[in-house]
Amino acid sequence: MNLLNGEKLTLGTCYYPEHWPENMWEEDLHRMLENGIEVIRIAEFAWNKVEPTEGTFTFDFFDRFLDVAEKMGMKVIFCTPTATPPAWLTEKYPEVLNARIDGVIYRHGGRRHYNYNSPVYQEKAALITERFAEHFAHRPCIIGWQIDNEINCETDVFYSQSDDKAFRAFVKEKYGTLHALNDAWGTVFWNQTYSDWSEIHIPRPTVNNVNIHLLLDYTRFVSHSARGFVKLQSDILRRYLKPGDFITTNGIFSNVDNHAMNAESLDFMMYDSYPNFANMTGGTPDPRSLRDRNWSRHLAEVRSISPIFGIMEQQSGANGQTHSGMAPTPKPGQITLWTMQSVAHGADYVSYFRWRTCTFGTEIYWHGILDYSSRDNRRLREVKEIHKKFQSLKPVAGAHYEAKVAVIKDFDNIWNAQEDVWHRTIEAVSSQGIYAAAQHAHTPVDFVYLTDELPAPDLSRYSVIFYPHPMLADKARAELLQRYVENGGTLVLGCRSGIKDLNGRCVMDLLPGVFRDLTGADVPEYTPVGPEDNNVVIDWEGEKLKVTVFIDEIDAIGEQAEVLGRYENCYYAGTPGLLVNRVGKGSVYSFGTTFPEETAAVFLRKLGVAEPYRNVVKAPECCEIAVREKDGHRFYFVLNYSAEPAEIVLGEAKTDLYTGETVQGRVQVEPYGTRVYG
Ligand code: GAL
Repeated sequence: MNLLNGEKLTLGTCYYPEHWPENMWEEDLHRMLENGIEVIRIAEFAWNKVEPTEGTFTFDFFDRFLDVAEKMGMKVIFCTPTATPPAWLTEKYPEVLNARIDGVIYRHGGRRHYNYNSPVYQEKAALITERFAEHFAHRPCIIGWQIDNEINCETDVFYSQSDDKAFRAFVKEKYGTLHALNDAWGTVFWNQTYSDWSEIHIPRPTVNNVNIHLLLDYTRFVSHSARGFVKLQSDILRRYLKPGDFITTNGIFSNVDNHAMNAESLDFMMYDSYPNFANMTGGTPDPRSLRDRNWSRHLAEVRSISPIFGIMEQQSGANGQTHSGMAPTPKPGQITLWTMQSVAHGADYVSYFRWRTCTFGTEIYWHGILDYSSRDNRRLREVKEIHKKFQSLKPVAGAHYEAKVAVIKDFDNIWNAQEDVWHRTIEAVSSQGIYAAAQHAHTPVDFVYLTDELPAPDLSRYSVIFYPHPMLADKARAELLQRYVENGGTLVLGCRSGIKDLNGRCVMDLLPGVFRDLTGADVPEYTPVGPEDNNVVIDWEGEKLKVTVFIDEIDAIGEQAEVLGRYENCYYAGTPGLLVNRVGKGSVYSFGTTFPEETAAVFLRKLGVAEPYRNVVKAPECCEIAVREKDGHRFYFVLNYSAEPAEIVLGEAKTDLYTGETVQGRVQVEPYGTRVYG
């Protein structure tokens, strides 16, 4: 692999040779190189440039461009162009198009208007991928490939006739018999029983909601379809790749198991990071919300797939398409801040979207580094400075993000929560609350995914794990957690744990179902929080933890289970709301409600994992602290997201990697400033 090789951090940009007169190419590449940009990504929407009419292939355009790239010494990530099927294709074969849930077909003119399951589209996509690969893959300037563009962006639901047919085949393969399917989906309810496979369809408009168990399988099916489409291309590309070249794709979107997709088709994941989405014009920002800092959470998601990853598109200008969105130009320092945010979380490659702002089409307001005129500007100067910083950050390349706290996730619960309003509401509070609490307490957090398709993750490196609301669970997952706790881990579970099986059916076992032994808990009663329950708290040794959204009453039934907190200000006052169960060398905390930020902060503090680096660097809340580690050496990132200067205190003498100076004690970090200490 010649990009994320652990030797250096690299800058890139997204370039569209088809958007500019050819006589600008050389000068553009020259300026990029002068400013430290060594890699470009090209061609992800340029199908017509190679196959302008069906079956006519012409490679001259990109040959000429790659000649220029080679002459200039620019490295290239080449893309398959399947995100935008050409007009000749969609006109002749409308079955390749995606449709709305009511069957109306999406027409040509936007992007990602295709469906994954059309046999015609699969054939055409495979053919163009093969033609691209066989013609271009040997070119020395190419270092890797991006498949398609942003899988499941724009839409993550598919309702074409091909999808309908493929869904039927998917569930037939999964269940084998209609009896098993009817049972799993509980179709006896409201007389939905199927007596022939032909009666089964993807979700369609219904008077009430679509059966929730069907929806869960439908989302699994969308993921399966997306993965199959990526694998189709990856298998072709692999046959032509030069040694050392990589395959990736960009962006993390919903309804696709990106972990499995990466494992089966990619070398690593790339992400598209636009933190200023958080500052869209219009709303009044909540001062305590994480805003652009929330992108650290997205970066933690990418890292859960690829510990070292790349940013294929990093915001470098104002956002907006012609019909939606207005987000401001990055302020002085913010391009650096967001770049270092990516690096702090594990990105060794950062590529800006895009070199120059397009003068036509939907994205005329989606600004790149340069404005339309190409004049030298503040943003380009900032990129050049970032390149200088990257030189001094070489030792960071290949270093792994360090976290002692993890949040467990799994797609069964994520996809169930999309449809199940009780689940979605509790999950929304806790996932934001835990991450915000950890950010404000300078406590690095990893996400760890459980997926039956991949080997179980190594949990032993975490001292505390939150699995906030695993409503859907099975014995295998409970056993994995049991082993983690027996070996000394601390597990925290919130309300509603274990109430469903993996089909999303409620279990008839006593709650918390498969977690009963592990938690030593019994949940005899539960309720959503009503409007008159505003003052309910759980008292944990004097800390009054606010009860929000949901309440599980919890009794201690295990021999080692001990009540730590009880409800107050409600008819069940005095009932336990927090237990700890000692299991082997570790502990399991069962908490009867959700984890808003204030509650999560108390857990981090009481469990002894808050502010793990306070002896090395102390920072105010507005700064993020992230640590990457390599060969026993730690690199401390300090990121000031605020428009005000921040004072930090270094408890030990450290080298400021930007300047090479040794520093200790108080340091002023300018607005949007960053520091890296080693
Ligand atoms: C990304 C996409 C790019 C461009 C950018 C700005 O989602 O990959 O092609 O559209 O957003 O809108």
